[in-house]
Amino acid sequence: MESTPAVTSADRLREEISRLKKEKNALIMAHYYQRDEIQEIADFIGDSLALARQAAKTDADVIVMCGVHFMGETAKILCPDKTVLIPDTEAGCSLADSCDPVEFEKFVKEHPGYTVISYVNTSAAVKAHTDIVVTSGNARNIVDKLPADEKIIFGPDRNLGEYINSVTGRDMLLWNGACHVHDRFSIEKIAEMKKEHPEAKVLVHPECRRPLQLIADKVGSTAALLDFAEKDNAPEYIVVTESGILFEMRNKCPHKKFLAAPAEDSECQCNQCEYMKLNTLRKVYEALRDGRPEINVDPEIAEKALRPIERMLEMS
Ligand code: 13P
Ligand code: SF4
Repeated sequence: MESTPAVTSADRLREEISRLKKEKNALIMAHYYQRDEIQEIADFIGDSLALARQAAKTDADVIVMCGVHFMGETAKILCPDKTVLIPDTEAGCSLADSCDPVEFEKFVKEHPGYTVISYVNTSAAVKAHTDIVVTSGNARNIVDKLPADEKIIFGPDRNLGEYINSVTGRDMLLWNGACHVHDRFSIEKIAEMKKEHPEAKVLVHPECRRPLQLIADKVGSTAALLDFAEKDNAPEYIVVTESGILFEMRNKCPHKKFLAAPAEDSECQCNQCEYMKLNTLRKVYEALRDGRPEINVDPEIAEKALRPIERMLEMS
C-alpha cells in the first residue's frame, strides 16, 4: 500500500500549510504570544480583542486559532457555523482555570444587583454567567461607559481588576484569580534591569501585580504596548509580559531594542506561557490536514455566552 510521504522539514510544513489553507478556505490566526514560526505563517496576528473581532467578521470556512483554548471557544461562539480548530487542546490558561464556573455562579448569586464583567480569559461556562465580557484592550473603556453608581463584579484577574479600579475610580468587587506568567514578574528584577538600562522605558501588561503597574511608563494590552513602542521615541524598552510579543515589536521597530523581563524565580532571561508555546508548525499542519482537534461549545452555554461577547464588541 502506498503511504503519503511524511512532511519533515520546516519549509515543507510551511508549503503544505499554505496549500491546505487555500484548499480548505482556512484562516490562521495567532496571538502575539505564539512561537515566532507561527506568527510568521499566520494570516492575522493580534491581541485577544483583535482576534475576537477578526473571528466575528471572517468569511473563511475554517479558523485555526493559534492561541489558547478560551480563544478558540470565543471564536466558535461568535461563528457557530464555522469549523474552529486549535492545534493543541492542552493549550489551556491558568487564569481561566482560576475561575471555576460553579464557584463563580455562586459568587454572582450572592451579590444580586451587581453587573458582572468577565475578562475574556475565562471558560464559556463562566461567560454564560456574565453581563459583559472585556479584554485588557477595552476593559477601561467599557467600565467608563457604565453609570458611576453601578455595582460591578469583575473577574477573574485581580491584577487587571485593581488596575481598572485605579484608572476609573471604581470600587469593583474582584475575583481573586491570576495568570501564573504575569503574576511571576517582580519589581526587584525590573529595578535591576532599569539600573543597567536607565534609558529604557518599562512596558507592563495589566495582568502584572500592582507595584509593577505603578512603575510602568505604559500599562496596556499586548496590542497597546506594541502601539506605544511604535509611536514613542525611546531607544530601549523593558517588556514586562509574555516574551512572544518581542517578535512583533522587533518586526515593527527594527531599530529599537526590546529586553524581555524575567520571572522573579527564574535564571532565564524571559517569561513564557507554556500553554501558548504548545502550538507548533507541525501541529498547525496536522490540524489543517486532519480537520481536528475541533472546538465545540455546548449550544446552551454558547447561546448564553454569546450575548456578553456581543455586548463587548458593541461597546468597544
Ligand atoms: P491580551 O491579548 O488582551 O493582551 O491578553 C494577554 C493574555 O494573557 C492573553 O492570554
Ligand atoms: Fe493564560 Fe497567562 Fe498564558 Fe495568557 S499568558 S494564556 S493569561 S496563562
